[in-house]
Amino acid sequence: MGYNVSYIRWSGLLSVLLISICPLASAARATGADPLTQAVDEGKILFTHQTFGGTGATCEQCHHDAGRGSTVTPDGRIHPAIVGAAALFPRFNLKVRKIITLEDQVRRCVAGGLRGTPPAYDSAAMRSMIAYLTSLSQGKRMRMGGKLGK
Ligand code: HEC
Repeated sequence: MGYNVSYIRWSGLLSVLLISICPLASAARATGADPLTQAVDEGKILFTHQTFGGTGATCEQCHHDAGRGSTVTPDGRIHPAIVGAAALFPRFNLKVRKIITLEDQVRRCVAGGLRGTPPAYDSAAMRSMIAYLTSLSQGKRMRMGGKLGK
């Protein structure tokens, strides 16, 4: 009994500590959303609004409708809808001739598409972006190494 009570006391204290030092947890508490939903929402905002210090474009400029729509540029290049894309990584990239992860792809598109500064692998922006992109693949079959629409 004594053990249980002190366990509860300690775990209670620990959660109070965690909530007070972790900004995401306290933000989630304030809005009532769980931390994962919060990250997905933040990722969507980054996707549609963040320029990463580049020329002013956002991800949505090429991946329309927050990534759910595809588009063809005037010079005929296809920017695919990226629903299901997260389920294709890691995969081999022909241009760089190595295996790339979804994080690598985000960094490639920020550097190449937005001409911006790619978010660090271990950054809040990267985590939110990955959460959002993965949410676009929720329920899709994993097809590691596959191609969109094939
Ligand atoms: C200037 C246009 C452009 C912008 C802006 C852009 N992308 Fe892309 N993106 C592409 C093209 C073209 C491809 C497919 C070829 C490739 O991999 O480079 C692609 C591919 C992707 C893929 C993989 C889809 C697949 O082929 O399986 C993801 C995920 C992705 N982009 C995410 C993003 C994110 C996140 C951003 C914003 C940070 C972004 N893109 C901004 C053009 C763009």
